[in-house]
Amino acid sequence: MGQHARYVFEDAAADRFLVHRAAFFSEEVLRLEQERIFQKCWIYVGHSSEIRNPGDYLTRNVAGYPILFSRDNDGKVRALVNVCPHRGAIVCRERSGNARSFHCMYHGWTFNNDGTLRGVPGQDAYGPKFDKSRYSLPEPPRLESYRDFWFLNFDPDAVDLHTYLAGAKDYIDLILDQSPSGQMEIISGTQEYDIRANWKLLVENSVDDYHILITHRTWINYMANSGVDMRRKPGEMLPKIGRGVELGNGHLTTDNPNYRGRPVAAWISVYGEEAKEDVANIKAELVSRLGEARAERVANTNRNLVIFPNLVINDGSSVTVRNFTPVSPTLMKVTSFALGPVEETAEQRARRLHAFLTFYGPGGFATPDDVAALEAAQEGYSAHRIAPFNDISRGMHKPMADQFDTDEGHIRVFWRRWREIVEA
Ligand code: FES
Ligand code: FE
Repeated sequence: MGQHARYVFEDAAADRFLVHRAAFFSEEVLRLEQERIFQKCWIYVGHSSEIRNPGDYLTRNVAGYPILFSRDNDGKVRALVNVCPHRGAIVCRERSGNARSFHCMYHGWTFNNDGTLRGVPGQDAYGPKFDKSRYSLPEPPRLESYRDFWFLNFDPDAVDLHTYLAGAKDYIDLILDQSPSGQMEIISGTQEYDIRANWKLLVENSVDDYHILITHRTWINYMANSGVDMRRKPGEMLPKIGRGVELGNGHLTTDNPNYRGRPVAAWISVYGEEAKEDVANIKAELVSRLGEARAERVANTNRNLVIFPNLVINDGSSVTVRNFTPVSPTLMKVTSFALGPVEETAEQRARRLHAFLTFYGPGGFATPDDVAALEAAQEGYSAHRIAPFNDISRGMHKPMADQFDTDEGHIRVFWRRWREIVEA
């Protein structure tokens, strides 16, 4: 037990795993998370395809900081802290674009797209000792990528990204194998929404297959009513065939054979026979390139991957890259992108975007129900004095290797890592 309060209580002898609800609303917990998680872990910034050409940039909040994710004139990818070294104004206020330089709106200092200071109006007034090289836009000490996914780290001594990602790399590779060239791209059109709940609730929910039958009953009924066979075995809906998997360093995934003909959601009946034939062709290409077993893994399993702390890649009816940032202990901002193989045809792309919108979208079949559930939980925590604990014990009597995706073993993986860092 460290100097701080404890929030995670594990009693292996009693098969009980409890999380104190203060972990979801305390200002002190968020302060510790900012300092120990968001300043020390690798945090997702963006994807190479979003800044394809020299001069491309986009602005986003990463780990609580305004970041200018850009490609400079030499083609080098950068994460510049988008704050003016003069008096602190946000320098680039556009969402995205292409620029050789950035111009601060306050006093007009101008920066090259590699972050170096280019021009200062009335520079003479600073005298002869003024040294422009001292006034570059700051950069986090570390910026590294794995297969076009870029992450930053504010800790100069952090392990390298590849080591950090550990077993999560295998699951990223399974996604990339959907593309014949191994190239995926972010498809333009971002989903953004706020949830009035603690950010960790979305970590849990993204991989919580226990809730599907209840929270997503509307979707299950819709699918069943439109002729999709939602059963895997006689008499059983969404049976226990998926697994919850630990990937190291707090990363985890669900891994669920679904037999629904991924990729690109041919199983949604509105797409008709034409889509089925198209998907058969995609599958044939996968088999010829990867062999039967690997193709089956790539095309016919549903996976929800959590990269600790706040990146989720849902690899299901479409591929979504979703990350979320706490604004306060009880409010998060969520950003979600669709990812697809660069080779896709216009029809395949349209089906992918349809699945991205209608299932995972903020007005889709899944997300509004999830948001309602998360906000209900957050509201419930107001009674923490009389009802202090969340129970995350499901499946705890079995080893990790035997955890179903409907158990909570993989959710405990997240909390154990969280405890290691926050309660240290
Ligand atoms: Fe940017 Fe003054 S704050 S130029
Ligand atoms: Fe859900």
